[in-house]
Amino acid sequence: MSHQLRLATEADLAAIMELENVSFGNDSWSRPTMRAELMAPHTTYLVAHQDEKIVGYAGLSKVASSSSADIQTISVRDSHRRAGIGRELMQMLIEQASKLSATEIYLEVREDKPAPRKLYEQLGFERIDRRENYYQPDGVAAIVMRLAISTTAKSEPVVLGIETSCDETGIGIVRGTTLLANVISSSMDQHARFGGVVPEIAARAHLEALEATLQKALQDAGITIKDIDAVAVTNGPGLAGALMVGVGAAKALAVAIDKPIYAVNHLVAHVAVDVLERGKLETPTVALLVSGGHTSLLLVRDLLNDVELLGETIDDAAGEAFDKIARVLGLSYPGGPEIDKVAKNGDAKAIRFPRGLTLPKDQEKHLYNFSFSGLKTAVARHVELAESKGEQVSIADVAASFREAVVDVLVTKAINACQDNGVPRLILGGGVIANSRLRDVAEARCQEAGIELRIPVLSLCTDNGAMIASLAAQKIMAGMEPSKLDFGVYSTLPV
Ligand code: KG4
Ligand code: ZN
Repeated sequence: MSHQLRLATEADLAAIMELENVSFGNDSWSRPTMRAELMAPHTTYLVAHQDEKIVGYAGLSKVASSSSADIQTISVRDSHRRAGIGRELMQMLIEQASKLSATEIYLEVREDKPAPRKLYEQLGFERIDRRENYYQPDGVAAIVMRLAISTTAKSEPVVLGIETSCDETGIGIVRGTTLLANVISSSMDQHARFGGVVPEIAARAHLEALEATLQKALQDAGITIKDIDAVAVTNGPGLAGALMVGVGAAKALAVAIDKPIYAVNHLVAHVAVDVLERGKLETPTVALLVSGGHTSLLLVRDLLNDVELLGETIDDAAGEAFDKIARVLGLSYPGGPEIDKVAKNGDAKAIRFPRGLTLPKDQEKHLYNFSFSGLKTAVARHVELAESKGEQVSIADVAASFREAVVDVLVTKAINACQDNGVPRLILGGGVIANSRLRDVAEARCQEAGIELRIPVLSLCTDNGAMIASLAAQKIMAGMEPSKLDFGVYSTLPV
């Protein structure tokens, strides 16, 4: 009969002590010490037995308040070496440590024992230290080894995501691919009189909004902070000061609740919301992300490992262009919805405004890049010229023609990106996706080109914390390691 493993009980004490003395001689624990360890609430002891005979044992210690565990001892009877018993004992203890939410396991091993060291290395332990004269009385050194374990490699981790890259303070909570909460507090009103997002105002507003937004998100999700398995936060791209508020809060939270933290790329997260609606992102996909802060085309071959930035705006973001043109036309902030509304009564063909970076000469360097500054100037000049001639400007026509120019370039480049790369699907994201004309044109042209179009619900298109949580949950479920606590913010973080 082969050996089996089970939890050790007090009844095993005598057999364990016998093996302990054979294995460790002078350096053995005393029977009372062994008994205390065996019975302690913070330890897990296993025995390997064969035909009722104890042939090995091992112990793990994990204190509830600590995130690390220690392998306290392990021994296999000489006659039963090389049967894989040590490996099985270790694997079960690692599993146990993981169940107890340990993020790392430590052990010490005699320097003069290469065989166990090799086993530990195979199990993923790394040498981190050496202690001189550790084992007495023979004065052999100890090698200290550590195994980092992903505690959150759970099937459905509960992740709290924090987004503060622009003017939305977003806190989202997901369980795996299920959306539990998505709360957004926007400082948009505070920027209205400036006609655009003021970074300092945004940063301060995040600071003021975070606590209440967090509480509301927990309440909506019906959970407490203790139920969170991991914290996720945008660390770029975005406004540096605004990002810093979110990252600082996320780190403090992660430390306070003793949970891992994941730094997340804002743009890739926009794509990750799709899994909240469909469970899985179909790849490859092109993503067109348009908001007040960014205008980017991504080629996503794999959400976690292979995202390529095909192009982006070289000046204003599309939403920014809407906001600036709204000012020119005397409309209020944010300009996008206003222009969208007014344009409904206008003629999109009334004025032929320029389509930035679409000329043959642009194709080499700017195939998938965008530029809206020329368009902005053209609109402003058109209005000025008409006014100087005393002509009545049709705001509706200008708005419709401007909107048409933006939408035309966005959709044309996105579809080209799909076709050039043989990608049969396109996903949209960002606040500008609310634009009715953009939706209509994208739908019509995608259908024509045989491209599947995905438009997430608007609350997941605009900047939000759920997308940040969603991307982190994907990382966790794929077994990816958390971020080190010293990560910074990067206003131009690449995908
Ligand atoms: O993603 P988002 O909520 O966050 C920021 O980037 O801050 O996007 C906001 C942007 C603003 O520039 C706004 O004018 C624009 O999205 N936007 C629109 C529409 N609704 C919002 N642009 C065009 N048409 C719309 N209907
Ligand atoms: Zn965004």
